[in-house]
Amino acid sequence: MPPLSNLATRDVETLVHPYINLASFRETGPLIIERAQGVHVYDTQGKGYIEGMAGLWCTALGYGNEELVEAAATQMRKLSFAHLFTGRSHDPAIELGEKLKEIAPVPISKVFFCNSGSEANDTQIKLVWYLNNARGLPRKKKIVSRIKAYHGVTIAAASLTGLVGNHRDFDLPLPGFLHAGCPHHYRFAHDGESEEEFASRLADELDALIVKEGPETVAAFIAEPVMGAGGVIVPPRTYFQKINAVCAKHDVFVISDEVICGFGRLGTMFGCEKLGFRPQSISVAKALSSAYLPIAAVMIPELMYEALLAESKKIGVFGHGFTYGGHPVSAAVALKTIEIYVRDRIIEKAAKRAPLFQARLMALNQHPLVGEARGLGLIGGVELVADKTGKRSFDPRHGIGARVVRFAEDEGLIARSVAGDILTLCPPLIINAAQIEELFDRLTRALDKALDWVTRERLTQA
Ligand SMILES: Cc1ncc(COP(=O)(O)O)c(C=O)c1O
Repeated sequence: MPPLSNLATRDVETLVHPYINLASFRETGPLIIERAQGVHVYDTQGKGYIEGMAGLWCTALGYGNEELVEAAATQMRKLSFAHLFTGRSHDPAIELGEKLKEIAPVPISKVFFCNSGSEANDTQIKLVWYLNNARGLPRKKKIVSRIKAYHGVTIAAASLTGLVGNHRDFDLPLPGFLHAGCPHHYRFAHDGESEEEFASRLADELDALIVKEGPETVAAFIAEPVMGAGGVIVPPRTYFQKINAVCAKHDVFVISDEVICGFGRLGTMFGCEKLGFRPQSISVAKALSSAYLPIAAVMIPELMYEALLAESKKIGVFGHGFTYGGHPVSAAVALKTIEIYVRDRIIEKAAKRAPLFQARLMALNQHPLVGEARGLGLIGGVELVADKTGKRSFDPRHGIGARVVRFAEDEGLIARSVAGDILTLCPPLIINAAQIEELFDRLTRALDKALDWVTRERLTQA
């Protein structure tokens, strides 16, 4: 391992980084990014990379967008901070709230602003609990999410998340958080089960779970239209229609976590529209501001707003809010971001480039290390396996996914590996056809290097 640079050493001695083995990180050190433009980021040595993950599934309009910079600077000069507590307000929040209502895929009555996806999902849970207290249903409080879901890391959001790494030794999930089956046909279908049969079985299992717990105790179901951090899992075609029916049958409130899928990732403004998923409320973040500044929102239906009204009449206050929720500079940037999505037809254009992205992604299914390449729109997952026919994963100790990510970095591509040696791809929506080709050329070379290494080290053996 080459010695760490001065800046890398200062990093290792100063920061705690999310989502890394903190022990091995002390030797490898960080990849330090210094600047970025368009779909490219550049490290401190001046090496350029295609940002194949749009940062963390978020920089939809890419880097260096002058209109967004200008929107922030103008708002900062005019009003650098104002809050929404105790009846105060400001025009960027009002306008952004109106815009979100206007583009919402389902009827939305009000918008509540937060700063992150985790805060939005935590807020969703608190609002559902409030709702059922207002309805005189104080026992109806359990929340169902799914195995492999990712909804964030605050205590309640991490409880929704269905990944072992987010629970183990954090004493999570909290009681009252249930995890239904994951709609990943490749991994969880029975032998010979069609996608349709699999979707029906998952809906039946959800039904059975709610009945076993008691429908009078189950409040809500939350789902990402396409699971992101769980490994880019696209559900079967009729999955959500069937899940929606089960939720309706048991009076279970339905939430779509659009933190990744919102604003065009799947080729539609909201991911639920693409998948025939009908939520009652929606969480958004990330591409809401193209990640130029942190902002998130909960999009609230009338039924829930009425509950908030009733509770605040009873209690005297709606006791929830974040200092920076709806920050005027973030709101101004988010407004400009949505204006650009619509004005420049960013989402239609992304949808037009999706077939090329998906064709190159699907071609990776031929690679000896790839068990399943899958995706939708401009998001993709590549599951690496030791044995293609038996779908056997590599021993996690070999860190194959992380190794491919490093080979990809050598090739000038930023990708990510999540639990299960699954590579994830989620480039900025502004990526063009030539850049998509280049992204997959670089990834293919990285996979070839990984195959050489795996063969040399005999890592495919059980
Ligand atoms: C679907 C989804 N929900 C929620 C979150 C949490 O968002 P944040 O990291 O902003 O708290 C994420 C983050 O990746 C996400 O992908």
